[in-house]
Amino acid sequence: MGHNLLKGKRGIIFGALNEKSIAWKVAEKAVEEGATITLSNTAMALRMGELNGLSEKLNAKIIPADATNVEELEEVFKQSMEVLGGKIDFVLHSIGMSPNVRKGRAYDDLDYRNLDKTLDISALSFHKMMQAAKKLDAVAEGGSILALTHIAAQRTFTGYNDMADAKALLESIARSFGYVYGRDKKVRVNTISQSPTLTTAGQGIGGMNAFFDFAEKMSPLGNANAEECAEYCVVMFSDLTRMVTMQNLFHDGGFSNMGLTQAIVEDYIEKK
Ligand code: NAI
Repeated sequence: MGHNLLKGKRGIIFGALNEKSIAWKVAEKAVEEGATITLSNTAMALRMGELNGLSEKLNAKIIPADATNVEELEEVFKQSMEVLGGKIDFVLHSIGMSPNVRKGRAYDDLDYRNLDKTLDISALSFHKMMQAAKKLDAVAEGGSILALTHIAAQRTFTGYNDMADAKALLESIARSFGYVYGRDKKVRVNTISQSPTLTTAGQGIGGMNAFFDFAEKMSPLGNANAEECAEYCVVMFSDLTRMVTMQNLFHDGGFSNMGLTQAIVEDYIEKK
């Protein structure tokens, strides 16, 4: 049951691929909380067909866009304003992809054209999205823009590869654009740093199952799942967080502030 936290608000959700996607859960929760939304993903993701079901269920138009393409992003904002009947109140960037990870290239054997793509898709697209929105004056005053990130931006995790660099850039863009957007339009920009989550993108990361298990034991509250992440996103889109901007917000059951938990000690002793 919703709490009407987003009643009357208009939003755009980028990056719902299938039921496991964090963006999928955010779309469902946002509508449950009273928002009207549009959905966007690449033409290739749309061909996979699963998004149609969500679109019908939520009565949300799908506007295809490659998030590295500025003209297509502009189209998403223009069409969303038309369909939803006014300026946009919240935007979710839930997009990530590394061709190097996909092709199993090690961090000390990167293909640099792949690295360009990783950074473009997973980080620069956030800048492109906000620059397109700001130039069109598409986001309402007090609007809230979020991107999803991971703690590998600050600390090194084996297997995270060039996505770590992409996430560091993504978080930096959130701060830099957050200043400019806040100053000029009172729009806030934040990143949510989420626990490992078993989605399509998550499962692409090397050693994900071990990391998932490790993080679960290293977090006093355990790992946060996609639905819980969606709940946090809704709060960040709502008017309850009007003065929060330029922050990287950890949503990880406490993982980021732990050194060693008893659960890990016991696990280690058992295996010795
Ligand atoms: P997902 O695979 O469901 O979502 C990734 C989305 O990115 C897909 O919908 C895909 O179509 C889209 N995408 C890829 N290339 C694109 C492009 N050129 N233009 C537009 N969209 C494109 O996986 P998930 O886990 O829901 O990922 C969402 C976000 O959450 C990503 O930024 C990811 O890095 C982040 N995240 C995920 C964690 C995890 O463990 N799954 C942990 C922390 C953050």
